[in-house]
Amino acid sequence: PDIDSLVGIPDFEWVAQRVLNISSYTYYSNGAAGEWSYRNNLEVFQRYALRPRVVVDTTGIESTLPTKILGYNFSAPFFIAPAARAGFAHPEAEANLVNGAAESNILYVPSQHGTLTMAQIGDVHKNTSQVTFQQSYPPNDNDTEAKELFKQIEDAGNKAIFLTVDSAADGNRHRAARYQVGTLPNYGPNAVPTSYTKMTWEMYRKWQNFTSLPIVPKGIQTVDDARLAVQNGAPAIYLSNHGGRQVDTSRAPLEVAIKIYQEAPEIFKQVEVYADGGVRYGADIVKLLALGVHAVGIARPFMFSNVYGVDGVKRAVEMFKHELAIDASNVGVADVHQISPDIVDWSQPTNY
Ligand code: FNR
Repeated sequence: PDIDSLVGIPDFEWVAQRVLNISSYTYYSNGAAGEWSYRNNLEVFQRYALRPRVVVDTTGIESTLPTKILGYNFSAPFFIAPAARAGFAHPEAEANLVNGAAESNILYVPSQHGTLTMAQIGDVHKNTSQVTFQQSYPPNDNDTEAKELFKQIEDAGNKAIFLTVDSAADGNRHRAARYQVGTLPNYGPNAVPTSYTKMTWEMYRKWQNFTSLPIVPKGIQTVDDARLAVQNGAPAIYLSNHGGRQVDTSRAPLEVAIKIYQEAPEIFKQVEVYADGGVRYGADIVKLLALGVHAVGIARPFMFSNVYGVDGVKRAVEMFKHELAIDASNVGVADVHQISPDIVDWSQPTNY
């Protein structure tokens, strides 16, 4: 369909499901095992009802969207989260996400496992004046290798590293194994060897001395690990269950943010906290920001928007910005950086 006929973010998935082959669509959409976490990430947002405050002047709301992330200026408090293999949706692959993000002035964090290499993405990025951070998996416990990886990330022009810490082993993805060409089951005669990652907080502290870039742990899922990350010098933390793709029945980041708000609210003041998983509507962003989350990551919707190339990426950004502004306004928020947690009823999870 014509891009102008799309009315909301879910429409991009509707289109992608129809135009991509089942293998590519499954790669983007699937989660681990029974996909409870994947669905819960989406469903959790409707369990916490809004408490709209009325008779509030919210006329300047759009002008409050610009947000600094690790000191860099962007036009919105949300960003494109790392997702591998953008080439399944469009031949220009990650280049469209770099250019779409640059034209919209939002942050894009490319995956280490892109269709394009980190250096190729860096070349596209250097033609823009946009700030980019790079996602990376933990390097092996080999100092030369670690230094080389961080240097590659610096050379590609990135200003920060999002280090994914939620993937100690491959995800157990049944749907991908069923439908994704080239993906084999974890067991049986055709099994691919599972890769396991060794990473400790000690290695994390050492790696911080190997690069001048801030290293942000991505994939924090408990209050305990949020505290440990801060104690180990994390400049920011990123709540994520990898979109439900790593281990099933892991909590949605909204639930983890609620726990931090209840048990260790000081963390939101000590470091910038990012969160992703299941964000599809403006009100989803409002709820995360209300708890003290600084910026919100979004992955699948942008991968699906890339079916339309750069125009799709830009349209998805516009939709999120517009919905964020009108939903914030309708609950009586005058400034998206000053959202009272009271605009959500956290006490009584509900099901509509
Ligand atoms: C991901 N994600 C991911 N994360 C990461 O740190 N490195 C990676 O290479 C990838 N690759 C990847 C591929 C695909 C196709 C998806 C959908 C996701 C996880 C991603 O960064 C993010 O945490 C979640 O996907 C956020 O949930 P939503 O927005 O997709 O619901």
